[in-house]
Amino acid sequence: MRCGAVVVAAGSGERFGGPKQFAVLDGVVVAQRSVDLCRSVADVVVLVVPEDAQEQGYGADVVVVGATTRSASVRRGLSALPLDVDIVVIHDAARPLASKHLFVSVVAELSEQVLDAAVPGLEPTDTIKRIAMHGDRRHVVETIDRSSLAIIQTPQAFRAATLRRAHASGSDASDDAALIEAVGGTVVVVPGEIDNIKITAPGDLDLAERIVGRR
Ligand code: CTP
Ligand code: MG
Repeated sequence: MRCGAVVVAAGSGERFGGPKQFAVLDGVVVAQRSVDLCRSVADVVVLVVPEDAQEQGYGADVVVVGATTRSASVRRGLSALPLDVDIVVIHDAARPLASKHLFVSVVAELSEQVLDAAVPGLEPTDTIKRIAMHGDRRHVVETIDRSSLAIIQTPQAFRAATLRRAHASGSDASDDAALIEAVGGTVVVVPGEIDNIKITAPGDLDLAERIVGRR
């Protein structure tokens, strides 16, 4: 089966304070690390970048310009993939510490024909409460049963035809699996990785350096 990968790196990194995907992590650019990881499963890798960052490909086969939402950036990447790929892996450039094994495990899950998508997930270990604003205070409404919850990461693997159909709606969601759910597809969760952090806040790059340092 032919596999294509889309690495989304077109965000502005507002919470981080700049385009974190181009920060250097232990001597290697974050986006480059994410592209390299995709090579463990993908025959072709598309990197989606901001308009002003098109000159470097970080090892990808194709570089395209992204859009204002993550989902729209994924769509740009998807349309740059060859039409003959059977499986598509979508990965956040901002997750440079996923293992190659994780890429292999989401793709392997799709050998089961009835499944449309496989995503890595972790069981929440903190207590999770629903809250609501009462004036300027956040009041607790209830405590959620966390046994039915999962914290979802990338890489996410999809049957290509289903992913293209799901994205045809042009909807936005915080991940691609949500669009599969919306068209009634079957998404399964495989074990995620605690070290597979998404670089989001300024301190996360230091945390990532520490994780790399103890490998
Ligand atoms: N992304 C993208 N296009 C967008 C928004 C996000 O390609 N319009 C990518 C980011 O580059 C990142 C991944 O999607 O690799 C996950 O998004 P997030 O961590 O939210 O990154 P940013 O949107 O850049 O950060 P922020 O939300 O803090 O601005
Ligand atoms: Mg964002």
